[in-house]
Amino acid sequence: MSPASPSSIPSPTVAPAGAPKGARIIAITSGKGGVGKTFVSANLAAALTRRGLRVLVLDADLGLANLDVVLNLYPKTTLHDVFTGKSALDEAVIEAPGGFSVLLAGSGMVEYSRLTPEVRTQFLNVIQTLAPRFDVILLDTGAGISDVVLFSVSLASEVIIVATPEPTSLTDAYAAIKVLAMQQKRRHVRMVINQTLRPGDGRAITGQLQQVLERFVATDSGRPLRLIHMGDIPADPSVREAVMRRQLLLLQVPGCPAALAIGQLAGKVEETMLARPA
Ligand SMILES: Nc1ncnc2c1ncn2[C@@H]1O[C@H](COP(=O)(O)OP(=O)(O)OP(=O)(O)O)[C@@H](O)[C@H]1O
Ligand SMILES: [Mg+2]
Repeated sequence: MSPASPSSIPSPTVAPAGAPKGARIIAITSGKGGVGKTFVSANLAAALTRRGLRVLVLDADLGLANLDVVLNLYPKTTLHDVFTGKSALDEAVIEAPGGFSVLLAGSGMVEYSRLTPEVRTQFLNVIQTLAPRFDVILLDTGAGISDVVLFSVSLASEVIIVATPEPTSLTDAYAAIKVLAMQQKRRHVRMVINQTLRPGDGRAITGQLQQVLERFVATDSGRPLRLIHMGDIPADPSVREAVMRRQLLLLQVPGCPAALAIGQLAGKVEETMLARPA
């Protein structure tokens, strides 16, 4: 995990919570890497699309993007081309299998592993331009608490942390949540526990993390950050098989336990995060 860093990370910059127009921006992030953020982002996007929503997934893991690999896409134009002025933003937004839109970063862009003022401005412009065209934008971020990750999370009004039941994943999730509470002044963070072995494990884990936060993390408001459990996704061999085939699980094996769990998660996301006042 990256070392704790930045005092310079802003509070959430785009704050569409309650705003009448524009996409709800949701960051999908984690403390530890490899816990399933890209898998959840892509399949949740497909499930939300199936529910009639206009969805964009933005590959916000600028240095180590791999959404293209999971979706078997070979983009001609990436975020890099947009940032350097080589291509127009519209050319870089493409349709993924599953019917949602994606904006891919392309891998190995080492120049984006550091957060410069240019990267900040470009990123912000891209999101502000695209927000009115979608109901929801999912930011598939990198793992950890580096400047770049925290900046992309700061662009979102809502955060979903993906963690697995492994102790290392939970320790890192705790560290990330603590930073989000202290630096971004988040009042709540949502949890998805991936690769669970038994029903109910995820809720119990979220409850344990909440207890630790209440004991050890004091926020400015004096109230502890609240963790909202959004769902569990069971460990399921079909996930790995779909990734190996570079297919979306929801299209490949729609009835498997992990796909069903993603469908339920989409229902909960729509109900609790996307409902707008009439
Ligand atoms: N529910 C699951 N059941 C079984 N295997 C899973 C499950 N979720 C994820 N995996 C496995 O974990 C791997 C890593 O997932 P993924 O690439 O989505 O993680 P990530 O958090 O995006 O990683 P990174 O931090 O590198 O971006 C997948 O390729 C898949 O093999
Ligand atoms: Mg990933």
